[in-house]
Amino acid sequence: MASGKIIIAIDGYSSTGKSSFAKLVAKGLGYIYADSGALYRAITYFAYTNGFIDEKGNVDKENLQKVIMNITVSFRTNKKGESRTLLNGADVEKQIRTLTVSNSVSRIAEIPYVRSFVNMQLRSMAVDKGLVMDGRDIGTAVFPNAELKIFMTASEQVRAMRRFKELQEKGDKETTFEQVLENLRKRDYIDSHRETDPLTRAKDAIELDNSSMTMEEEIEWLNKILLPNFNLKVELDKEE
Ligand code: DC
Repeated sequence: MASGKIIIAIDGYSSTGKSSFAKLVAKGLGYIYADSGALYRAITYFAYTNGFIDEKGNVDKENLQKVIMNITVSFRTNKKGESRTLLNGADVEKQIRTLTVSNSVSRIAEIPYVRSFVNMQLRSMAVDKGLVMDGRDIGTAVFPNAELKIFMTASEQVRAMRRFKELQEKGDKETTFEQVLENLRKRDYIDSHRETDPLTRAKDAIELDNSSMTMEEEIEWLNKILLPNFNLKVELDKEE
């Protein structure tokens, strides 16, 4: 049986509930949680607001490359315990979750120099292990030696409904369910067909289809794997 801190890589399609699951796992193990998608989203927001993406969604790759090293993305936990994404020191958590950013992010994430830049930052978070990271290529490209790899799936309709509800709860009453579904399909396609590090299931990843599972059931499922193999257990906070 292995002991000590490990890296848990969680990959999967958009809106499979990766981040909610990963956050809970990190909290329950006392590990750090890292949202790799937030880095791609923050770079997309930067590109948008600085004129590197035109109205048609075309990216000015040449000029973006010249300034990419000046971009700093970091995370901060606020008083409520929520993780906030900072772009060059400014809180952009709300801005990076809009449909405008969601519609362009896959175009930014397919650029090889963007991926190298993000990967460098992601790997620097793992010096002491004890890390739960979610994304599309964490188990295949970022941490191919991660001790535990999980590949999350759920049906398309379930995923679109989750993202739609999330937007509604955040006060976005304009975006329709059909728009969310279309965005999800487009992103899934681009994410899994791009040349550099496409979304694929790592050979040694364990699949978790949570279409009809509650979060408690997902954690229970994970504990069955964690306990015997790593001597770890995710303890859910009973007060929540
Ligand atoms: O997880 P998310 O929806 O916030 O991710 C936003 C986009 O970033 C997603 O469409 C694909 C890209 N992404 C990626 O290419 N590789 C990752 N490791 C994480 C995200």
